[in-house]
Amino acid sequence: MILRAPLIDTHGRTVRDLRLSITDRCNLRCVYCMPAEGMPWLPKQDLLTFEELARFARVCLECGVHSVRLTGGEPTVRADLHVLVRMLHELAPGLDLSLTTNGLKLVEMSPALKAAGLTRVNVSVDTLSRERFHQLARRDRLAEVLAGLEAARAAGFSPIKVNAVLMRGVNDDEVVALAGWARDEGYELRFIEWMPLDFQHSWERSRLVPAAEILEQLEHAFLLEPEDGDDPSAPARTFRYRDGRGRVGVIASVTRPFCGTCDRIRLTADGQVRTCLFANREYDFRRVLREGGTDDEIEALLRAAVLRKLPGHLISQPGFVQPARGMSAIGG
Ligand code: 5AD
Ligand code: SF4
Repeated sequence: MILRAPLIDTHGRTVRDLRLSITDRCNLRCVYCMPAEGMPWLPKQDLLTFEELARFARVCLECGVHSVRLTGGEPTVRADLHVLVRMLHELAPGLDLSLTTNGLKLVEMSPALKAAGLTRVNVSVDTLSRERFHQLARRDRLAEVLAGLEAARAAGFSPIKVNAVLMRGVNDDEVVALAGWARDEGYELRFIEWMPLDFQHSWERSRLVPAAEILEQLEHAFLLEPEDGDDPSAPARTFRYRDGRGRVGVIASVTRPFCGTCDRIRLTADGQVRTCLFANREYDFRRVLREGGTDDEIEALLRAAVLRKLPGHLISQPGFVQPARGMSAIGG
């Protein structure tokens, strides 16, 4: 599949991982992500079609990208998602093709997604308490998420990863409970630090739970050993339970950024490339795709974007400005 030169930026990093946000919409309203109401959704015609997404992905694969993750918003709210999965899978049958989802639709969709060639799923579970889930996600739907996880397992996805975002005073007392539950169920849990990417700009540093604190609690409750041979571009620091019963990870996006080894680019739901979650600059691929651009023109714009990839985010620097668009439009 590698027909074009690799995408290398001026800091020596090679792009290998593509994140495609396929919709900005969602069937939950997590407080750390979106307001309760009044989200200005993208007009439908601005979302890329499956054909446009697959074409963009193909050019990326030709440049050496080897994994593609579908994100949102909530990617499963796009009708016939399995059709897109099949189109991407057929581009490169060995492709690492994964989905980040809130899990609500996995009962219904897991078998078709698996059959279409999806290789992995990441499901977000921030709390195990029904009431708390209701507060956090503003919908009383925890049971459906847990059933979705079961369905993903039954469909044969493995490993199944679970993401948890902790907020001070909301769910920061659930570190050990979440870890114990995931361990018992055989899911690989990763705690993610809350990043300033919420639509309503309510992020406050004092409300994020630092990875170091999460680790301390984990080490107090479990016997852990750091994993050797961690992939340096993997954002998670992972640990093995000493009794061999799985792994757990922490993603210190804010307190210990991993930008130096970042191998990602992202395409927003409306077809703009961002080389970083926190980049403010976007490159308009929708226009190239819709105005008859050739594959070589797509490649040229991709190279221009990657060449300008910044060395890292500036969350902890004075004067940091949160991107105007939230994570649900940029893609997780
Ligand atoms: N900071 C950190 N993680 C976030 N997610 C959504 N918004 C944020 C944020 N502001 C998580 C979701 C999901 C994944 C896509 O990213 O919980 O697990
Ligand atoms: Fe939806 Fe994910 Fe945002 Fe929650 S975090 S509102 S599930 S897009």
